[in-house]
Amino acid sequence: MIRIFMLLIFISAGSLVQAQKFENLAQTPPMGWNSWNTFACDINEDVIKKAADYMVSSGMKEAGYEYINIDDCWHGERDAQGFIHEDKEKFPSGMKALADYVHAKGLKLGIYSDAGTKTCGGQPGSRGYEYQDALMYAKWGIDYLKYDWCSTENINPIGAYTTISKALYKTGRPIVLSICEWGDNKPWEWAEDIGYLWRTTGDIYNCFDCEEDHGDWSSWGVLQILDMQEGLRKYAGPGHWNDPDMMEVGNGMSTSEDRAHFTMWAMIAAPLIAGNDLSTMSQETIDILTNKEIIAINQDSLGVQGFKYNAENELETWFKPLENGDWAVTFLNRGAEERNINFNWKGQIIKDPDFEYTVDFTKNTYTIRDLWMHKNLKNSKKVLKAKIKPHDVLSLRLSMSK
Ligand code: GLA
Repeated sequence: MIRIFMLLIFISAGSLVQAQKFENLAQTPPMGWNSWNTFACDINEDVIKKAADYMVSSGMKEAGYEYINIDDCWHGERDAQGFIHEDKEKFPSGMKALADYVHAKGLKLGIYSDAGTKTCGGQPGSRGYEYQDALMYAKWGIDYLKYDWCSTENINPIGAYTTISKALYKTGRPIVLSICEWGDNKPWEWAEDIGYLWRTTGDIYNCFDCEEDHGDWSSWGVLQILDMQEGLRKYAGPGHWNDPDMMEVGNGMSTSEDRAHFTMWAMIAAPLIAGNDLSTMSQETIDILTNKEIIAINQDSLGVQGFKYNAENELETWFKPLENGDWAVTFLNRGAEERNINFNWKGQIIKDPDFEYTVDFTKNTYTIRDLWMHKNLKNSKKVLKAKIKPHDVLSLRLSMSK
């Protein structure tokens, strides 16, 4: 009797064991590409291989992009033992060969599943097969799993994401878990030890300032998603990021809008997951996606999201603390009119509202670098005067003068 009792205690304690995460994974926001925004369900191994090829040849890999992520609709069927397989028509060489191909280019491969019975695209979900699916992904050589939230009626989100997290950990292969429940259950409050990033909103839509109504759900433009990040920065940091969704850069917005979108994702330490067709992108798109000075503010080792310091007439000023006492400062023009910037640094002391960072222009002078023009401006003793186009940014890096 006592033995059974002890066994019960042991089992229940075991099920309470917290999820475990691999150390030193996603210490800076993950960078990569995902198939969904351009290809949706129309994917196959050539699409994925091409993305890997062009990630290298475009210079994106060199700029820091690493993950090639297959989204929904790669699935075939489960076998008699319950193991999932790839769709053999779309992926005739098999997932393992595809992972080998991507790895041989020095990149990593991501895949997609869902906590429910079915994925959002109607494919087999992982519910009840979490450990088997994790084993299969590890066997294939998968490095990243985006785990969605369709068909999850009556499932507890913390439980569901803990289960897949434990299953992945148990395989012994470091696989980044990307939580995708659209912010419905406030994952920022519970997911730090479960996943490495969590979606904060519904899906992005390819527009700068709009809501796309799908009936019982909406997808959102860049500004709408940006506004929904309010209050969340204190939850993010190295190894656990807020994810405002994959980017739409290169998918049809204007160059200014793409530049503003990319810069703001960098400012809020968002994962930089491109969502365009890498094989057909223009030089302008490449130049945006590979701007190393902007990427450096996103990948900064402090891992602190920027904050909105000021908003006036659709002109916002954002600050982001960086390593070695540097700061990124971005002026965002949300409006349809050109705006003048007239910013007097001198005399200002700007405090981070959530963390212990302060920039004190009364005591220190900063050198200022324009991160899109790639040139140094006058220092912070001078009033900053500039014009900023509609839906565009002026983005700066401030370093303390020696
Ligand atoms: C959900 C996710 C998207 C995408 C699709 C795939 O909508 O939020 O990012 O993965 O499912 O069906």
